[in-house]
Amino acid sequence: MKILVLNGPNLNLLGTREPDIYGHDSYDSLVALLAARARELDVDLACFQSNHEGALVDAIQQAWRDGVDGLLLNPAAYTHTSVAIPDALRAVRLPAVEVHISDPDAREPFRRVNLVRSACVATVSGHGLHGYLEALDLLVARLRDPAHPEP
Ligand code: DQA
Repeated sequence: MKILVLNGPNLNLLGTREPDIYGHDSYDSLVALLAARARELDVDLACFQSNHEGALVDAIQQAWRDGVDGLLLNPAAYTHTSVAIPDALRAVRLPAVEVHISDPDAREPFRRVNLVRSACVATVSGHGLHGYLEALDLLVARLRDPAHPEP
C-alpha cells in the first residue's frame, strides 16, 4: 500500500515557526515520526512539502499516475484559499485525510473558511504532530477495510 503525505506552505519551518501554535518539533522530525509508523503499519510512505500551490496540485496528479492508494494532506494556508487543490483531489478520486496541527476553527475567522475539507474523507485537527499519526492510522484502516467507520 502506497501513501503520500503532502504538506503545504511554511510547514518546512516547523520547529521555529510560531512554536506556541505549531510546537518545537521540526519538519524532519515529523517525517521521521511518519516513517516509523509506516514501518509498523507495513505501508510504503513518501513525504513531499511545497510552498507552491501548483506543485501540490502536480504532486496530487502524479500520485494518481504512480498508483498511490491514499493521501494525507496538510494544505496549510491553501486550506482557506485554494480551489485547485480540492479540484485535484476530486479529479484523481484518491481518498485523502486532511490534517491540521492547530485547530483552524478555533483561531482567526478567516481560518474557518475551509475549501479542502469537502474533498477529503476525514479531517484531524488540533492534535499537534500526533494528528498526522492518527490520520495515517485512519487512512490505512479505511484502505484495508472500506467499511471502516469515519471518526
Ligand atoms: C495549519 C493551519 C492553517 O490555518 C495555517 O495556515 C497553517 C497550518 C495547521 O496545520 O494548523 O499553515 O494548516
